[in-house]
Amino acid sequence: TKVALAYSGGLDTSCIIPWLKENYDGCEVIAVCADIGQGDELNVVHDKALASGASKVFIADLTEEFLTGYVWPTLKAGAVYEGKYLLGTSFARPVIAKKLVEIAKQEGCDAIAHGATGKGNDQVRFELSVKALAPQLKIITPWREWKIRSREEAIEYAKQHNIPIATANKTYSMDRNIWHLSHEGSDLEDPWNAPKDDMFLVTKTPEQAPDKDEIIEIDFEKGIPVAVNGKKMNATELLTTLNEIGAKNGIGITDICENRLVGMKSRGVYENPGGAILYYAHRELEYLCLDRTTLHYKELVANQYAELVYNGMWFSQLREALDAFVDSTQRTVTGTVKLKLYKGNIISAGAKSEYSLYSHDFVTFEEDDVYNQADGTGFVNLFGLPLKVRALMQEKTGLL
Ligand code: ARG
Ligand code: SIN
Repeated sequence: TKVALAYSGGLDTSCIIPWLKENYDGCEVIAVCADIGQGDELNVVHDKALASGASKVFIADLTEEFLTGYVWPTLKAGAVYEGKYLLGTSFARPVIAKKLVEIAKQEGCDAIAHGATGKGNDQVRFELSVKALAPQLKIITPWREWKIRSREEAIEYAKQHNIPIATANKTYSMDRNIWHLSHEGSDLEDPWNAPKDDMFLVTKTPEQAPDKDEIIEIDFEKGIPVAVNGKKMNATELLTTLNEIGAKNGIGITDICENRLVGMKSRGVYENPGGAILYYAHRELEYLCLDRTTLHYKELVANQYAELVYNGMWFSQLREALDAFVDSTQRTVTGTVKLKLYKGNIISAGAKSEYSLYSHDFVTFEEDDVYNQADGTGFVNLFGLPLKVRALMQEKTGLL
């Protein structure tokens, strides 16, 4: 057997390497590490995979692909899970799985393995992606098979197998990439506990943010962010810039007891400074550029899209179809949004677009000659007709 393992360099995925070799009769393990901006030292990760017994290591830089191929489509859709979660872990799994499958095929592997537990969403996202891209590949899931039940037991197992253990004492279960940082577990498992200020690794708390506001401008082309303060940037540079600005101003902390696909509710706290700014700005432009029924219909699509991404159905027919709808709406979502950032708040400060449907001529309270106010009489009469007919019936029958 030859196995391609989604490798992070953490304790769990490092234990998986010797475990696979012991339990799948001396199989060869190929470690695949996706760089999606998690900020780890990748040369250290590389060496750790070899030290743990991998026969080969691949480090793939996927940050730009992650943003343009997964994050931007989700942003354009306006998808937010349960009104709060910007899906940072959810859409990272399919991009990792795609690379894993590509390398598994190239190296002639017959199986893939991942380090997600049997209690979470991530197992679903990895495995559905693999099923969709390479239905013939076997999937090995150590967390659902081995006897390790806790971090302490994993450390013990690592010691027995001479795996280098990072000294950092991790309190929370975290997942990080360029888009977000998630925190789960420990004191957060009681929803009554407020997150501790020193838990945050990216974003300042509002109290730590400057006492002065910061104004920024973001340009969008067809729903995609392309420039900050007039400066054109690629996706990675753009998000890095907005992460810095947002973090400094205490933007993008969300705290939610979310519904996992596997049934239970779980508490998560997320740091998403750049993402929060982009979602807000994108929406501001849509207020100008989308007509009423499209905007309202798109809210339904956003919900569906969020659920689909959360549930690991990235490589699905429905996602492709929803993308086609969203892209059609985004043809005119081009323009500039101005925002004021102040101590954790994002405040609208202006928006403009050459495709704006906002018409001063029609809406003005001043005198105009494009809107005939007399048309209002017939419109209100017919629009209100069902209400009037029902009221007449109620009067006649005494039924309320
Ligand atoms: N609850 C979030 C989600 O389901 C974050 C999961 C974090 N994953 C992790 N392996 N720490 O998308
Ligand atoms: C895990 O169980 O691996 C992390 C949490 C999740 O997937 O929801």
